[in-house]
Amino acid sequence: MSGNIPQTFIDELLTRVDIVDIIDSRVTLKKAGKDYQACCPFHSEKTPSFTVSQQKQFYYCFGCGATGSALGFLMDFDNMGFVEAVEELAKTAAMVIPYQHGKAASAGSTQSSSVNYYELLAKVANYYEYQLRHHAGKQLAIDYLKQRGLTGEIAKEFELGYAPPGWANLMSAFGKEKNAQGHLIEMGLLVQKDNGQVYDRFRDRIMFPIRDRRGRAIAFGGRVINPENTPKYLNSPETPVFHKGKELYGLHKVLKSLPAKQQVIVVEGYMDVVSLAHAGVDNAVATLGTAVSESHVHTLVKHFDEVIYCFDGDAAGKKAGLRAMETSLSQVNKSVAFRFMFLPQGEDPDSIVKSGGAERFHQMVKESLSLSDFLISELLGKADYRALDGQARLLEMARPYIEKIPNGGYLQLISSELSKYVNMDGEHVMGQLAAKSGATRMSNRPSRQSTADEKPSMVRLAIAMLLEEPSLANQVEQPQRLLELNLAGVKFLVELLVFIQESPNINTGAILEHWRDTPQVRHLHKILRWEHHVPEQGFATEFIGSINLLQRQILEQALNELLQRSKQGKLTSMEKQKMNELIGLCQGKEL
Ligand code: GTP
Ligand code: MN
Repeated sequence: MSGNIPQTFIDELLTRVDIVDIIDSRVTLKKAGKDYQACCPFHSEKTPSFTVSQQKQFYYCFGCGATGSALGFLMDFDNMGFVEAVEELAKTAAMVIPYQHGKAASAGSTQSSSVNYYELLAKVANYYEYQLRHHAGKQLAIDYLKQRGLTGEIAKEFELGYAPPGWANLMSAFGKEKNAQGHLIEMGLLVQKDNGQVYDRFRDRIMFPIRDRRGRAIAFGGRVINPENTPKYLNSPETPVFHKGKELYGLHKVLKSLPAKQQVIVVEGYMDVVSLAHAGVDNAVATLGTAVSESHVHTLVKHFDEVIYCFDGDAAGKKAGLRAMETSLSQVNKSVAFRFMFLPQGEDPDSIVKSGGAERFHQMVKESLSLSDFLISELLGKADYRALDGQARLLEMARPYIEKIPNGGYLQLISSELSKYVNMDGEHVMGQLAAKSGATRMSNRPSRQSTADEKPSMVRLAIAMLLEEPSLANQVEQPQRLLELNLAGVKFLVELLVFIQESPNINTGAILEHWRDTPQVRHLHKILRWEHHVPEQGFATEFIGSINLLQRQILEQALNELLQRSKQGKLTSMEKQKMNELIGLCQGKEL
């Protein structure tokens, strides 16, 4: 989401900067053929599988699958927010960002809007904190915190606040500042009704400021005080500086207090983080009511040696645990250990430390399962390895998980763990799993992911070629005509064709950015990871071939419809004529 920066500016920006310069100033790149390589900064490895393409302006890691444009790199590597990363890039390209709302600020100037956002958010955080100490109704909030066992000290440490009841507190506090209303709306702190009226999003709640890695307030979470109010927790919406699926509550504090590279505990709730810290466990972070995302795992792997996921012991907790495991697999390597702990039914970290202090919690951390133990115990629950067909089933069930693991030592380790349950050694287990999936990963050459269930469709192939070589789009006349096809992905293919045709010089990186924060971006990443086996010299032929086939399918689809109706004797003479034409075309004449 570009907030108040026009998308066309971002498209243009990404055709002007050079991703090689941007990355090379942070990770030393080496030229390898026409691309550049390095050891991946997002997972640890000894041989380089991180590749930067100057031509396509995007990076890709064959090991962990990390991928993105120059903008995405800054966001992931430097932990920048979106607006901040755009500003940084604009600076290197000496471009001026045409902020909407008629505001133009030169890149990097202190007037730029992201700076205003951070300043404003800091002021709002202070405001809420002040209310907890001074508001006439503060006692209810203080009593609530006390009743939850928290002290003024810990509230101060986490800079907890109080959003008083009432609909217009923020406007009375900040209304005099320039553009306050607009900025508060953009930051999600004011909500605007259809009739234009605005009101405070957070009312009568305990406020948890959410800070980015550098400690800047970027959003808020608010908990009700009165249990009759709903929802129990309310978060800021997505804004130009806040992406819920990327942030971890408490991360900046943990990084500040820990010597680099140690253990982190990932819990589900804000209150858990605060309560754990109060009990002396000061290395916990929380997701913000979302599942653990790839971006979370990136961040965790980058900063810590040991990541312990902590979930409730119920079915939902188990499910969340499995999901976190799957998400983590693609970034697993020998220098980071993922562990999983499941709390007893009905308990959360807060209740554990309340009943047994940090000691009880630490004991449970000790008893947590390693990733391989967790995975294998899950599999063993579904297949009886003592029976021969159970062993085959075990391997079959392991396959989709194993396929996510990057090449390297961890793959060997988990194969050797699995081999204890089937009658073969670790090497054979790896061989078995690789052979059937048709993957080439057993060779030393890093390869793109390719899984058995991914059969190439024409649409997918066309999209893959376009991503590699966007200029191919110019060979397709009237791309919208393809919309007549009832095939998965056609709509996206057409959007892509139209976008590229309208954006001369666009590159792969800019295409990725254009679809950032849309549901399609996952497919884009998947397609980029997919090994389609078409050699580069063959792209144009293959692409035009796919498009021709798709166009032919339109004719066939139309013909089939007419044939169906003709069976029912419902064709007009015009339609009969059309049908005959189509039969002619479909019988192999060139299109
Ligand atoms: P307490 O009830 O205060 O102890 O909070 P908790 O942290 O134990 O909450 P719970 O386990 O119910 O939820 C964990 C996390 O899920 C919270 O910290 C929130 O981030 C999120 N969450 C829970 N309830 C809601 C809700 O009603 N709305 C939203 N948006 N998020 C919620
Ligand atoms: Mn709780």
